[in-house]
Amino acid sequence: MIIITKIVDLQVFLSKKISQTKTIGFVPTMGALHLGHLSLIAQSKKQCNLTVCSIFVNPTQFNDATDLKKYPRMPKKDAELLKSVGCDVLFMPTVNEIYPTKDTRQFNFGYLDTLLEGANRPGHFNGVAQVVSRLFELVKPTKAFFGSKDYQQVMIVKALVKQLNLPIKIIACPILREKDGLAMSSRNMLLSPTERKAAKLIPLLMQQSKTLKKEGKTIAEIKHYIKTELTNHTIYKLNYFAICNATTLKNAKKFTTNNTYVALIACYVGNIRLIDNLEL
Ligand code: PAF
Repeated sequence: MIIITKIVDLQVFLSKKISQTKTIGFVPTMGALHLGHLSLIAQSKKQCNLTVCSIFVNPTQFNDATDLKKYPRMPKKDAELLKSVGCDVLFMPTVNEIYPTKDTRQFNFGYLDTLLEGANRPGHFNGVAQVVSRLFELVKPTKAFFGSKDYQQVMIVKALVKQLNLPIKIIACPILREKDGLAMSSRNMLLSPTERKAAKLIPLLMQQSKTLKKEGKTIAEIKHYIKTELTNHTIYKLNYFAICNATTLKNAKKFTTNNTYVALIACYVGNIRLIDNLEL
């Protein structure tokens, strides 16, 4: 695996490779890698001839300075992990490389940016679009791989690629979970042992919402149940629990047979904000 920090080196390397390489798979990350990320690398290796992974903690997608500061960073360990799974290129640029001048681009994703994560983290998806479009322009991948834990992010990235007319296929990969069901996330390592234990309630509630739907409960009843379960314990602070149309992400009022639905949650466990989702 080659580690590259400068854009010019990345471009020289990729331009040399491009003649022999039919397809480039790209896995953009913010580091603190876990098995979920490695499963994206595995998919890329399966589907493409060359796999590029980026590690860049993108400041423009954080609307909270403390969150950005405490975001876990462990580049050495990440590089070892990527090497061990056969990643070909690790691109680790500095903030100045990616943003030599302030990125003032404003993307318009319509209603998609006004819901859920968009509503609760203003500017977050604009920052994601800034960095992802910049990285896409540099790596020029054939396919890019994203985890489905960030359900709305996958939809935003698909919309971005469509808007910019980029010939890149976005592949959404399944959520990987810990033994107790907790969705793998770089943020999990910030949980204290007590919080980590408590966090397993989140995937459990997602499963229960699926069971409740099967039992014929209404959306209002499911929401009421989930909210009550979480307000019973002070360690949790629910940000949102929503049941949406799985294709449009619009808030669903009632279940109909010809639509598919997804439950999405954002909940603080202690001070750590976790997200999860499950198709119902
Ligand atoms: O999902 C993430 O880790 C980030 O939002 C991404 C896509 C790498 C952009 O910074």
